[in-house]
Amino acid sequence: MLKLGVNIDHVATLREARYRGQPQGEPDPVLAAQISEAAGAHGITAHLREDRRHIQDRDIWRLREVVKTRLNLEMANIPAIVTLALKLKPEIVCLVPEKRMEVTTEGGLDVVANRASLAETCRQMRDAGIEVSLFIDPDERQIDASARLGCEFIELHTGQYARQFPDAAGREQELARLTASARQAHALGLRVNAGHGLNYHNLTALHQVPHLVELNIGHSIISRAITVGLGTAVAEMLRLLENYPG
Ligand code: PXP
Repeated sequence: MLKLGVNIDHVATLREARYRGQPQGEPDPVLAAQISEAAGAHGITAHLREDRRHIQDRDIWRLREVVKTRLNLEMANIPAIVTLALKLKPEIVCLVPEKRMEVTTEGGLDVVANRASLAETCRQMRDAGIEVSLFIDPDERQIDASARLGCEFIELHTGQYARQFPDAAGREQELARLTASARQAHALGLRVNAGHGLNYHNLTALHQVPHLVELNIGHSIISRAITVGLGTAVAEMLRLLENYPG
């Protein structure tokens, strides 16, 4: 069965737009995680960025307390966050590249160029009983390098697939690239996740890519929650307006 990891960063982005620097505010990403789990999600993903632009430290510790499925901590391979992850003990970490100016994670990790520091982090995580996934582009050299590091998972970056999806030829080309990468990774003993830019339109075609274990999806699910939930939210507010004495 293909599993779903729900990325709740976007809930925190909305909260921070209004409540940055305050100890609480809405919407609450931890509540979003609980709702996602109650709806059947197989895991919760959160990215504690170095600049703390969305998920805050307090969120990640509360998530560790309440998440009952699998907590996937997305993180850059930098010492302060590695130290925090070793204390937090999520079930799995997904190592991602992180640039301050990007809106979201824009490209995959360069495992080839950063082999030594990634190998050290993988070793530390393994010793702490934490699985490791590497977020990489569907690229033969990156998959080879990931397999040699001895991590359990890779997460194939589907951003290019999502961008090409409206164009039939581009879509087929990206599906072929993802398929070849998933086959290569599986043959090398890696487990294969995928994510970035997946949505209600482009997901079904991805079924043809073999060996996928879990998809990590954030933006489209949180966006859809606004669309399908807005009517209820307006109706609840209207009820509070009732019986105005004027
Ligand atoms: N996987 C990784 C490694 C990511 O960095 C992100 C974006 O935070 C996602 C999955 C989810 O992407 P999206 O929000 O486009 O669904």
